[in-house]
Amino acid sequence: MKTILVTGGAGYIGSIVSRRLLEKGYHVLIYDNLSRGHKQSLPSQAQFIEGDIADERKINTLLQDYSIDGVIHFAAYAYVGESVENPALYFENNLRKSMSFLECLKNNHVKKIVFSSSCATYGTVDDVPIHEWVGQAPINPYGLTKYLFEKALQAYDDAFGVKYVALRYFNAAGAAYGVGEDHKPETHLIPLVLQAALGKMKSVSIYGTDYETEDGTCVRDYVHVLDLADAHILALESLEKGKSAVYNLGSEKGYSVREIITVCKEVTGKDFAVQESARREGDPPTLVASSIKIKNELGWKAQYDIKDIIRSAWKWHLAHPDGY
Ligand code: UFG
Repeated sequence: MKTILVTGGAGYIGSIVSRRLLEKGYHVLIYDNLSRGHKQSLPSQAQFIEGDIADERKINTLLQDYSIDGVIHFAAYAYVGESVENPALYFENNLRKSMSFLECLKNNHVKKIVFSSSCATYGTVDDVPIHEWVGQAPINPYGLTKYLFEKALQAYDDAFGVKYVALRYFNAAGAAYGVGEDHKPETHLIPLVLQAALGKMKSVSIYGTDYETEDGTCVRDYVHVLDLADAHILALESLEKGKSAVYNLGSEKGYSVREIITVCKEVTGKDFAVQESARREGDPPTLVASSIKIKNELGWKAQYDIKDIIRSAWKWHLAHPDGY
């Protein structure tokens, strides 16, 4: 049985991917400092160690105690707005701590890493859909830290033969295995809209209606977290071939903020107030993926559409009206 070390496995995506790994017969070792994840999201069959990725002593001990076949590195902060207001937090947590972790992995000869990267590494791109080869020019510190860690992985591949797959998620959404998106504070569009549908918020704000998009609001590519989970398994397996790669993970379809609100109203059957507000700093107008590369190379394609995503999220919100 192969052992996979999952950092950030108490988080939204990490805990769902961990469940998929367990289903596929892997032994899963979750390492998380619980600063933003939820203990309740941890799958019961996974082994859990509480700790910080920058705790070198703890990481070295773990890597010596267990024979780790691969690592999936999720542990990171993921709020664009927070990163603009407090960049030091992101450079410290997402970059410096990840570098310390990477150095420990290299020193302990653990050389297969799947990394949670982001479409936020692209910044504002004129040619949509976005291919992996376009120039990356992140426009917020969150995206910049993800971009820089991708570069660090490449440098460790060149210098030490560390093999990695960086998965550039577009907008992860939806619920699975009884785990849903619940950040505190919540800043993501779909959970906020569903909270309004539940009557827990008076209204939903649209951040910016003057973007150069069809209806003036930002366009995003939402991808079901279960589709993301499958991509992680494929990425991990692909590392057996000894080749590093970067892949976009998106549905290849863009939805504006207004369209998401409409679909949420349709799926939930609820009406709620919508307010037009100022732009949120750090938001690119349009982020839509081309996922042709991962389709051609690993056979992955998103299976779930926007209604599936919102239905699954709504079911979760109905069952957890107060979150975790
Ligand atoms: N938005 C609103 N009102 C809200 C919340 C969001 O209009 O109340 C808008 C945002 O301005 C944005 C869109 O809805 O245009 C989606 O916003 P999210 O916060 O849900 O997600 P982001 O597009 O900011 O996601 C980005 C990257 C992801 C990254 C994520 C990390 O696209 O790759 O930030 O939080 F993982």
